[in-house]
Amino acid sequence: METKKTLTHVDGLDEILGGGLPTGHVVLLSGLPGTMKSTLAFAVLHNNAVQRHAKSIYVTLEQSRASLLAQMAAMGFDTDAARGDLHLLDVGAIQKGIGKTATKPWIEFLRRTLMTAKEIEGIELVVLDSLEALEVLAKFADRRTELFHLFERLRDLGATTLVLAESSPEASFFGLEAPPPRRDEAFLADGIIELKMHPISDVEVQRRIRVVKMRGSNHKTGFHALVFEDGRFQVTSVISP
Ligand SMILES: Nc1ncnc2c1ncn2[C@@H]1O[C@H](COP(=O)(O)OP(=O)(O)OP(=O)(O)O)[C@@H](O)[C@H]1O
Ligand SMILES: [Mg+2]
Repeated sequence: METKKTLTHVDGLDEILGGGLPTGHVVLLSGLPGTMKSTLAFAVLHNNAVQRHAKSIYVTLEQSRASLLAQMAAMGFDTDAARGDLHLLDVGAIQKGIGKTATKPWIEFLRRTLMTAKEIEGIELVVLDSLEALEVLAKFADRRTELFHLFERLRDLGATTLVLAESSPEASFFGLEAPPPRRDEAFLADGIIELKMHPISDVEVQRRIRVVKMRGSNHKTGFHALVFEDGRFQVTSVISP
């Protein structure tokens, strides 16, 4: 059976994904700091809001709502155009919502908030920025088990979720050192998109993007160039230097 797809509406990305993000899946967007994880995730929600008024929630745990909005406006996004469709939830808002009562409040609060939003508004896309920040805030005791449940809860929502993660799944794949231990989130996620900076000469670095895995999709496997100009991303084939 064909998996239903949610388009990213990012030039060239849906094609390498094999037709978009599988609807309802939890997809890791991984990369080192500065690889534009937040910007690309925001672009996907923004595009879907502007193109078809798709409702979404961006959970920003690393920076405040105001700072994220200011950053995205400075990058060239018309943030007003997505108002009413793209909701931003930051740590301040979550802490206010949690109060001081529950014992294991973070994940439970997130689950309830997303469930309610899904029921009332029909949220189609969720971004969790980032997994590392959530881990610190929620104080994971048993990382693997808690991640497993978190990903299951995100799947239960039926929305398509992008989970931003700092790690690069195969950081030393081409290096001589042993590959890092397989991270739990890498096999718990339904898909992985990797962002990286690739040195093309002694002085030049190019942004790259690769679909590492995408369950149920006939996706491209190689690296592509990720270009960002005037508030727009473009994924193109890599032109060898
Ligand atoms: N027009 C632009 N204005 C500002 N930054 C830009 C622009 N174009 C590209 N960038 C790059 O975007 C980067 C920030 O992107 P973003 O915050 O999305 O990255 P990130 O992967 O989420 O990083 P972090 O790990 O810090 O969360 C900057 O470090 C800068 O290199
Ligand atoms: Mg970020």
